Amino acid sequence: MSSHSFAFPYEVFESKDFLSPLFLSLMEQAITARSKAYAPYSNFQVGAAVLLDNGLIVLGNNQENAAYPSGLCAERVAVFHAAANHPGVPIKAIAISASDIQTPTTTPAAPCGNCRQAMAEYEQKQQFPITLLTMGASGAVIQVDSVLSLLPFAFSSEFLKK
Ligand code: THU
Repeated sequence: MSSHSFAFPYEVFESKDFLSPLFLSLMEQAITARSKAYAPYSNFQVGAAVLLDNGLIVLGNNQENAAYPSGLCAERVAVFHAAANHPGVPIKAIAISASDIQTPTTTPAAPCGNCRQAMAEYEQKQQFPITLLTMGASGAVIQVDSVLSLLPFAFSSEFLKK
């Protein structure tokens, strides 16, 4: 038997106003995207802004459906749109803002496991880290400098090699 542990660094900013100008602008675009989410069932809106290596920013938000599992989270709408329309262009950063429509959320959003898996794939593919910034409607922002750090023991293409 051997024991192991896992830890990763992250930063907490008191509010988005303490972010670098580039990341502040990215987060503000995530907030705008959030306001356009289609979330009539959960009333929980999420916006994501993806900064590409060529400077382009791709936006996404959660898209729900009366057949609940057919909907998709904001993060995957955004990264799949980026990969579909800008194939091969690496992702530098992803900003996320999530909030209940009636009661503004002040806790930073936590991307779901499926979105962590999807984001991790792009980081592994491009072989340089993707910075993740996440917040509620207001309040603290968490910055993580690699999305893979949010998914220890991630499944990857390595497992599919024969
Ligand atoms: N949601 C996201 O868009 N991203 C996440 O990482 C977590 C959850 C959406 C899915 C659904 O439309 C709503 O939030 C409530 O779960």
